Amino acid sequence: MNIKKLKKMSSIAALKYITKDSILGIGTGSTVITFIKQLKKVSNFIRGVVSSSKISSFYLKKYNIKIFDSREIDNIEIYIDGTDEINDNMQMIKGGGGALTGEKILAGMSKTFVCIADFTKKVSILGKNNPVPIEIISISYSFVKKKIIELGGYPVLRKNFFTDYNNIIIDVYNLFLKDPVKIEKKINNIPGVVTVGIFSIRKADVALISHKNKIEEIKK
Ligand code: A5P
Repeated sequence: MNIKKLKKMSSIAALKYITKDSILGIGTGSTVITFIKQLKKVSNFIRGVVSSSKISSFYLKKYNIKIFDSREIDNIEIYIDGTDEINDNMQMIKGGGGALTGEKILAGMSKTFVCIADFTKKVSILGKNNPVPIEIISISYSFVKKKIIELGGYPVLRKNFFTDYNNIIIDVYNLFLKDPVKIEKKINNIPGVVTVGIFSIRKADVALISHKNKIEEIKK
């Protein structure tokens, strides 16, 4: 199975969600980079974008797509992003690339969240194949670790990694998220946590899942 081709299929499928003269939110990851290459072709149709990360901004600049400063934007029509895992309820685990904070802010300000992914990202229970990333303030490391262990998780510090905001990430294994909303809220409440990569409260509105010969379009 050609994963590159699958990423391109989902990216092309997302283009129809772009509305004229809108400001688009752009996520992070290899699927999103594929999408940015497609966006270049229609960049005159939109006003511009807000970016969720430095790495996405790098690609957007490379393709001469106008970037607005997210500090000056409080709502966006469409947010387009990939995911690490997505369940039948359109809830996700994100942050494998470490950009979960920017991603959650843009997801939160969007009217419609369009998730682009290939079929390997679909899971029955979140946490099955991927750890849950949590961006934390470094001084809270030991305390957050203790709280995560109390929740049944196995936290591992992401080595040699700092986020765009100079924070650290712990990847939490063994969290099988039967009730993702409950765990998302619990982790959000731990002092020192900046963002948890569970997107179950603000979840996707549309998922464009590529399979070998078709796009599966799921709407909330
Ligand atoms: C980035 O922080 C992540 O949330 C990505 O959206 C996610 O990891 C998907 O990335 P890929 O498209 O590279 O699989």
